[in-house]
Amino acid sequence: MTIAIGSDHAGVSLKQEITAYLKERGLDFTDMGPFGPESVDYPDYGERVAGLVAGGKAEKGILICGTGIGMSIVANKFAGIRAALCSEPLSARLSRQHNDANILVLGGRMIGPVMAREIVEIWLETPFEGGRHKLRLDKIFNIEGKKSKDAHQQA
Ligand code: RB5
Repeated sequence: MTIAIGSDHAGVSLKQEITAYLKERGLDFTDMGPFGPESVDYPDYGERVAGLVAGGKAEKGILICGTGIGMSIVANKFAGIRAALCSEPLSARLSRQHNDANILVLGGRMIGPVMAREIVEIWLETPFEGGRHKLRLDKIFNIEGKKSKDAHQQA
């Protein structure tokens, strides 16, 4: 599995923690930055990671900003992206089982490193349940289809 990971300055130290964990686990990942504490804009990094996942270049993504809210907003603009902001393991598990979330979003100023590791571990290991949940995802695909059709008609 290839994982794309990115953050802004408010998430960079938690990103370091998570990349260390991914290395320990021997998981394949691409760190899309940033690599220092300088202030950056979360949409730039959210776009890089969500673009890789939406384009099929990465199977899953992990995004971190201060609250996780900005990164969630950015990632969910991309067709095919189901980004889930999780601050505890149960939401992480359910976001995979029910929503087939393909991007995990964390708040670097909201949770500590031990909680974050636990969330990431559960999120990466939990499969999608399919069944009735698949029908609901199909409805989301339809909404996305309508949205792009509307935008096209307005242009
Ligand atoms: C940066 O100060 C902060 O606004 C950002 O990390 C994030 O929390 C936005 O949603």
